[in-house]
Amino acid sequence: MSRTHRIAVLAGDGIGPEVMTDALRVLDAVEAKFDFTTERNVQLVGGAALDATNNETPLPAETISACENSDGILFGSVGGPKWETLPPDIQPERGALLPLRKHFGLFANLRPGVCMPSLTHASPVKNELIPNGFDVLCVRELTGGVYFGSPKGREERDGETVAFDTMIYKRSEIDRILRVAFTAAMGRGKRLVSVDKANVLASSVLWREVAIEVAKDYPEVELEHLYVDNAAMQLCRRPDSFDVLVTENLFGDILSDEMAMISGSLGMLPSASLGGQKEGSDLYFGMYEPSGGSAPDIAGQGIANPIAQILSVAMLLRFSLGETDAAKAIEAAASAAIDKGFRTGDIATGADAEKKVGTTEMTDAILAGL
Ligand code: IPM
Ligand code: MG
Repeated sequence: MSRTHRIAVLAGDGIGPEVMTDALRVLDAVEAKFDFTTERNVQLVGGAALDATNNETPLPAETISACENSDGILFGSVGGPKWETLPPDIQPERGALLPLRKHFGLFANLRPGVCMPSLTHASPVKNELIPNGFDVLCVRELTGGVYFGSPKGREERDGETVAFDTMIYKRSEIDRILRVAFTAAMGRGKRLVSVDKANVLASSVLWREVAIEVAKDYPEVELEHLYVDNAAMQLCRRPDSFDVLVTENLFGDILSDEMAMISGSLGMLPSASLGGQKEGSDLYFGMYEPSGGSAPDIAGQGIANPIAQILSVAMLLRFSLGETDAAKAIEAAASAAIDKGFRTGDIATGADAEKKVGTTEMTDAILAGL
């Protein structure tokens, strides 16, 4: 009997719907090839949900319950100029993304920063520094730290307005994200860099203590500590010397954008936000989305790179559905399409003009490789 999985599909805004359509074509293809099916519950999120609810919410209750009844969430992207003037709490990013992360306890954000050897020309890093490209995995803590710490607020003190946030971490929160990072390092190059600001922040002192403690359970992994400012510099000078990087929420927000920029194209990078492991299995509940965002400037033109969304499907298959062979097949087919020279605008150079393709053709090239 063929296996069945349930997924929630939230395409969102901007290029979200168009790259999602293509990612689902790839999912159809691997389902046929590897003999499983997905039941897809398609729901609104972000600006699309605001439009449909008369600006009531970017995250309707039906959307949350569809996610609750699924094995994993395939997410597109949210946001755009149309909704930027709404009150901050209901703007697509803050009103949908952050509550989804919190509601589902998606504490582990895996953001690969990969620059394939054949795409180093798209990276702003001097090409002689990255002759073979690079492949770094950023593991970002996603439900703690200054994003969610309390107190958080704004008030009058001594006749002027002050505003404040709290960067707070529990030992258990640091411990669990470090274990995800060490486990990821075990499956890769066995090198982990823990990023903190232990020369200034109390939460970072605890972070470093816990990192050293957890390291004892992973003796094969080489652990190094970097202050976040130094990490930001080393990433653009020698990105190919990193394997896995682990850090707290805000540092990870910033460093993962730096990694995405130096890798050359946001259109190539998927991400996973993982919650707890499902009972009795090594699969996680998770949400999978491109790193790039809704790109309203190119939406609706059929030119967006679908690879980030397609590789997000691969991560969903691997971490939440246990369809590892299908995940590997998608990753191999995406690499093969690049190797064959297919280029969307974001990764094309002048010399590639004749190989330039749109969203659909890039997906067709990937499908051909399956
Ligand atoms: C990200 C984004 C979000 C974050 C914003 C949109 C809330 O920048 O996913 O990195 O800061 O986490
Ligand atoms: Mg960010």
